[in-house]
Amino acid sequence: MNIIVFPEAQTATDFVAEKLVNTILKKPDAVLGLATGGTMPPVYAALLRAARNRQVSLSDLRSFNLDEYVGLAPDHPQSYHHFMRKHLFDHIDAKTNNLFVPRGDHPEPAQEASRYEGAIIEAGGIDVQLLGLGANGHIGFNEPSASFSSRTRVETLTDDTRLANARFFKADESVPSQAITVGIATILDARSILLLATGEAKARAVQAMIEGPIEENCPASALRNHPSVTVALDVGAASRLSSKTGCPVS
Ligand code: F6R
Repeated sequence: MNIIVFPEAQTATDFVAEKLVNTILKKPDAVLGLATGGTMPPVYAALLRAARNRQVSLSDLRSFNLDEYVGLAPDHPQSYHHFMRKHLFDHIDAKTNNLFVPRGDHPEPAQEASRYEGAIIEAGGIDVQLLGLGANGHIGFNEPSASFSSRTRVETLTDDTRLANARFFKADESVPSQAITVGIATILDARSILLLATGEAKARAVQAMIEGPIEENCPASALRNHPSVTVALDVGAASRLSSKTGCPVS
């Protein structure tokens, strides 16, 4: 695990965006695993800037998002389909049928989850998986106690996660209780992994991921079993690490 601590969230974000740009420059039809959440819009904004400056073309890009709320249709403002259109997909010329997000409104979510897993395999797997980190250590919507051998499936969200994500919903809307998420084993199949965590609210989860035991109680600790993981942190997210002087530290 290559851990890099940046002085500010913006520099950590720019680093992650640059890694994505370099991946696409090397392989224009790269398959990216994409994430949503409050950490990600600045990453997509930096990617769009690079595309506008003609540093990189996103035309041949292929992508698979990590997750989607069960019960939300793609046009629901809090759906991850909507999030991705707003922050990235509506602004690029990639083919929409190359940009995958699980269908949360599928009548049989479990069936949709296995179809999605199959589609990732059919695309040749993920080249670079972008991840955020839940304050409870989740990656995707793989909540604490999710099996390290899990594949794309329906997961029940913890109260902590629903509370954390309530900020994106209107006061009179309830956060869905389930999501379709790419599994931990599916994430670990990615050829390389890029995790971005910023802010002190993530410091405990970062510490558990890097310095705690590798156990299912902390889904992100599974990443230590992967040969090519880069973790970009700002000082807030790194504040509980026992070794935070080096840049990079590992
Ligand atoms: C979202 C996802 C989640 C988020 C995590 C952090 O697609 O997979 O694991 O990355 O919940 O969310 P924020 O960035 O809102 O703190």
